[in-house]
Amino acid sequence: MSPRNDKTDRTYKQLEEGTKQARPLQHQHAREIQPYGKIVKLPIALDEKVCAASSENLNQLLADTMTLRDMYKKHHWQVAGGTFYQLHLLFDKHHGEQDELVDQIAERIQLLGAISLAMAADVAELKEARTMARQASDAGDEGTNDLLVSDVIRTNELQVWFLAEHLVDVPLVRADQGKAATASD
Ligand SMILES: [Fe+2]
Repeated sequence: MSPRNDKTDRTYKQLEEGTKQARPLQHQHAREIQPYGKIVKLPIALDEKVCAASSENLNQLLADTMTLRDMYKKHHWQVAGGTFYQLHLLFDKHHGEQDELVDQIAERIQLLGAISLAMAADVAELKEARTMARQASDAGDEGTNDLLVSDVIRTNELQVWFLAEHLVDVPLVRADQGKAATASD
């Protein structure tokens, strides 16, 4: 070892001395504390079977909502054309609203004593939020029903309206003087 390297090694040792308590504990592996699909009973006066059924539905909805949130961001970036700026802003607003729903749904799953999914790639099948809301209500899980109806369904209904109005074929300046729409149209 050259005198120069020897001096460098001694310097590193001197620099590290007395820092053991401050070093980050890296490369640790924690024990699993709750297997996926199991329910931890919490004192919320809801039967575990109801919690399990609601959280299973909510996990599906969570994955779908994460996908929808990410699609809004994609289109926020990639939209083009004459209404670019308007849609660019609208899609980002919708993205933010879906992101809030993701948080609300995931936290509802956790408070039911279950484990929330974290990856949109876990999407397996699509179910209707309205059906899930009815199932939660029938089982006595009014909290989940309220989240589904008041937040998920109503937010998405509003977003659908905002998007659908962009697809109505109306003239920008001159009134359309053609025939009125008939039932056969
Ligand atoms: Fe942006």
